Amino acid sequence: MKKLKIGVIGLGGIANFHMEGIQASEDAELWSICDCNEEALASRGEQLNIPMERRYTDHKLMLRDAELDAVTIGTPNSNHFAAAHDCIQAGKPFALEKPIALNVEEASTLRDALAVNPMPHMVCFSYRYKAAVRYAKQLIEQGELGIIHHVYSQYLQSWGLNEDIPLVWRFRKDLSGSGALGDLGSHILDLHRFLVGETVRVFSDAGTIVKERNLIGAEGKGAVDVDDFCHVLARFEGGASSSMSISRFAYGRGNYQQVEVYGTKGALLYNLEEEDTLQAKFGDEQQFRSIAIPAECRVGQMQSFFDLLLGRGDGLDATIEDGYMNQLTIDRIIQSFTEERWISTLQEAVNHG
Ligand SMILES: NC(=O)c1ccc[n+]([C@@H]2O[C@H](COP(=O)([O-])OP(=O)(O)OC[C@H]3O[C@@H](n4cnc5c(N)ncnc54)[C@H](O)[C@@H]3O)[C@@H](O)[C@H]2O)c1
Repeated sequence: MKKLKIGVIGLGGIANFHMEGIQASEDAELWSICDCNEEALASRGEQLNIPMERRYTDHKLMLRDAELDAVTIGTPNSNHFAAAHDCIQAGKPFALEKPIALNVEEASTLRDALAVNPMPHMVCFSYRYKAAVRYAKQLIEQGELGIIHHVYSQYLQSWGLNEDIPLVWRFRKDLSGSGALGDLGSHILDLHRFLVGETVRVFSDAGTIVKERNLIGAEGKGAVDVDDFCHVLARFEGGASSSMSISRFAYGRGNYQQVEVYGTKGALLYNLEEEDTLQAKFGDEQQFRSIAIPAECRVGQMQSFFDLLLGRGDGLDATIEDGYMNQLTIDRIIQSFTEERWISTLQEAVNHG
């Protein structure tokens, strides 16, 4: 069977995951690559055996290739809007990294452009593809937890503690939109929405712990103008109350992610480090216990993208609409910690729609 020809835009850390997924699939092949860094483009091109004519420094040129079926976009956040918008204009299906834009205005424009020119697409909220998360969603939808009252989540990393890390794009608002919030918090906000529903209001506190870092390619230091940590209280539509703790400064934590959901009849605890099981307690049970996860919950993100392109998606992939709601909530959280007050999110979404 003919394989889908996939182009990869941005050849940094997350592109390895995209490319591994392409290479592992029987449905797709790595067709072309794009990076604005010519050295990275040349070395990855050689390593991956991509012909010179299918290596690009500008994604617009890549998108002109009539043979190309779809692309993945794994560039820094500041490039997401341009790359995705150009895909929509060119009619090329795409998988876009999170957060989908620098702000809700960009996200809204993407949503509007797709409404005019709909096409298969996915936002890479990767933790939707964890088996434990999928099973938690099933159990919640079946009503096993009863009415949900609380959701308590953490996403903690420690790499920010290293003050030798220079002023990379993740520390600059113009290139990232926000700090730990958009980087890590976007995943938790998506999990909250995937599992429980819409967030209607937020109150948050955030801060920058290391305020300056060495400039890249120049002498001296530059200001870190995004959050190193962000803590959010929120309410869901329907009344459930949640908290979310996000940090790049949590000593000892590599990629620690946990979501706890408490209802009237049961509770679930998902932890990324134990992704093959789900901790649960139902009815009169004495203790939380590990529950096995059905095989159907084991899916891969990149294979899901190819399934979507081939018309056999399971309907659980994140769309630009999900990415828009995510960005809206991020922007309202920033507004909340800036103005030190509760901010409504749902009302804004209605106004934008
Ligand atoms: N889904 C996840 O779990 C997950 C995990 C890590 C990163 N990400 C997301 O992936 C994106 C990239 O993160 P990363 O860690 O790979 O970054 P990175 O800095 O390692 O790589 C980014 C690459 O994009 C290239 N690039 C920059 N501007 C470009 C442009 N205009 N055109 C083409 N290439 C360009 C850079 O040269 C670099 O090679 C971010 O949006 C991040 O939030 C998602």
